[in-house]
Amino acid sequence: MIIAIDGPAGTGKSTVAKIIAQHYGIVFLNSGSFYRAITLALLRAEKDLSNVDDVCNFASELKMEYVNGRVVLNDEDVEDLLHSPEIDLNASKVSSIVPLRDIVNKKLRKIAQRESIVCEGRDMTTVVFPNADYKFYLDASIDVQAMRRFKQGVSNLSYEEVKAQIIQRDKMDKAKIVGALKIAEDATYIDTSDLTIEQVCAIIYNKIHS
Ligand code: DC
Repeated sequence: MIIAIDGPAGTGKSTVAKIIAQHYGIVFLNSGSFYRAITLALLRAEKDLSNVDDVCNFASELKMEYVNGRVVLNDEDVEDLLHSPEIDLNASKVSSIVPLRDIVNKKLRKIAQRESIVCEGRDMTTVVFPNADYKFYLDASIDVQAMRRFKQGVSNLSYEEVKAQIIQRDKMDKAKIVGALKIAEDATYIDTSDLTIEQVCAIIYNKIHS
């Protein structure tokens, strides 16, 4: 079974996807964390992000695993290093590199061949798993997105700075040539602005059992 969830930042995708995966006893896959881990490795190696060939050769050599919902990069658990403002900004650039998306997508599809998954990201319902059993698009107003991210307290940025970053990132994510964030025609659209996590999960369970 593949349950695919897409949407912009701060819509609760990861939290919801984790709960749904736990509920059904299947694997949770956060595709954004693959882009973030590759970005971390590229920044550590001081790679020039505009050199596409070098970036892709480098990324294809990385050993990336997903263990209990945490990213393990070349045998190092890097999960706690993936949410700095620097990674936020650069992951958006890195994920715009088309051949690099192919590398990530292959990894995701390989995992889905072995296991049932709940995956979340920007192009899970459209590009990576267009034949997913269930598709959802989670949305929220910009103010709600920014407040949720701000309350996570993962950076020292002010609310206004967090909001400006989200607007910039969502703009870049929606403008990608390949893998742009868009609503799949057959996805269930959920505006989470005024909903609790439990209410979002209930909508998803209802849809799956209907
Ligand atoms: O979901 P996130 O914020 O952790 O994603 C990190 C970055 O990767 C973000 O800029 C969007 C991008 N991304 C993407 O292009 N495609 C995906 N399937 C998932 C994330």
